[in-house]
Amino acid sequence: MTEKIIPLADLRYLNKIPVIPARLEAPTGLLADTLARPLQDLRISITDRCNFRCVYCMPKEVFDKDYAFLPQTSLLSFEEITRIASLFVAHGVEKIRLTGGEPLLRKNVEKLIEMLSALRTPDGRELDLTLTTNGSLLARKAQALKDAGLKRVTVSLDALDDTVFKQMNDVDFSVSDVLEGIEAAHRVGLGPIKINMVVKGGMNDQEIVPMARHFKDTPYILRFIEYMDVGASNGWKMDEVIPSSEVVRRIHAEMPLEAIAANYVGETAGRWRYVDKNGDGGGEIGVISSVTQAFCSDCSRARLSTEGKLYTCLFATGGHDLRALMRSDKTDEEISTVIAHIWRARGDRYSELRTANTDGLNADRKVEMSYIGG
Ligand code: GTP
Ligand code: 5AD
Ligand code: SF4
Ligand code: SF4
Repeated sequence: MTEKIIPLADLRYLNKIPVIPARLEAPTGLLADTLARPLQDLRISITDRCNFRCVYCMPKEVFDKDYAFLPQTSLLSFEEITRIASLFVAHGVEKIRLTGGEPLLRKNVEKLIEMLSALRTPDGRELDLTLTTNGSLLARKAQALKDAGLKRVTVSLDALDDTVFKQMNDVDFSVSDVLEGIEAAHRVGLGPIKINMVVKGGMNDQEIVPMARHFKDTPYILRFIEYMDVGASNGWKMDEVIPSSEVVRRIHAEMPLEAIAANYVGETAGRWRYVDKNGDGGGEIGVISSVTQAFCSDCSRARLSTEGKLYTCLFATGGHDLRALMRSDKTDEEISTVIAHIWRARGDRYSELRTANTDGLNADRKVEMSYIGG
């Protein structure tokens, strides 16, 4: 008989079922956590599956054919997702990002977008409804996503050189197909489109300048992301992190840059624009320095996992099971009160604490990014 090895602690199954507070409350839209951070941004992972095996996210050795992805019944239904989202919107959320895994792999994702795009803020405004994708299905789906009410997309692309890109995605996917997806999204008006490149030292850092050159003078905003110690399977090491300061230095040496102000409080990216001689620029880039310059102090992001657990930090080791509440017939008022209590108690600032600890904290106790959502 062959034995299947079951990991000692698969954190996806750690359950904290929230207790319903005795006194129920109506949402005010003014929640603040213990560090006075508002709740403004909800990121929803709608599938834990992906057709890529990026080395920094879903390494093949771990996410192989025996990996136990969540069964269909564990996933939140579109009705459940929309219900939770509407409660968050009442609490002040104005931006919703669908993530994964690869969100475009979720069947009928357009239907979900249609449902979410009907939500309005308490004062009647539309949401900033967006999605992070690896671009593989974008050429095919861009028009349907736009028609369903999606506002914009962010596309991950880690290299322009096919060999390097294939080493990163580990499934032999070509750069040209992602570029086609980006152009299709642009044509149908899913902008402003951001391009996210995770920089892993020794693997794709030679692509920094070519990527910058390629996307300069285009409508696309390229952002360089420091490789993070998310999850427990990517074997993260500090010496594989290329600090954003180095990214800026390398680009600036060829195409001069100057820093510009953030678009909004709590923006993940530091913004830089090209200063061409004639002064009319060439667009901007962003650097996301979650390792070398943590941005926890303004973090207003909540995350909903594929199976409906609420995580108050990308690096949390446990989530609050909102699905259990919905499936045991709790009322909107009860669940909304639970969300308020969880947010008020929030004190997470993992990246700030990790700055001093270069091995990463909780190294083997963190949930995977494909499950919790990037
Ligand atoms: P915009 O709405 O376009 O400003 O997007 P965003 O930067 O808020 O979201 P996006 O998904 O594009 O984030 C890019 C990357 O930044 C993610 O893939 C992560 O690598 C990192 N990131 C985003 N949010 C957080 C966060 O809360 N904590 C940390 N440590 N990293 C984050
Ligand atoms: N470090 C930084 N970003 C990561 N992502 C996934 N894993 C990591 C990591 N280890 C982010 C990237 C990617 C998105 C889907 O998730 O931005 O584009
Ligand atoms: Fe898939 Fe994105 Fe993770 Fe790559 S980074 S494996 S594309 S979810
Ligand atoms: Fe927010 Fe946690 Fe990321 Fe800090 S580490 S920015 S608290 S999600």
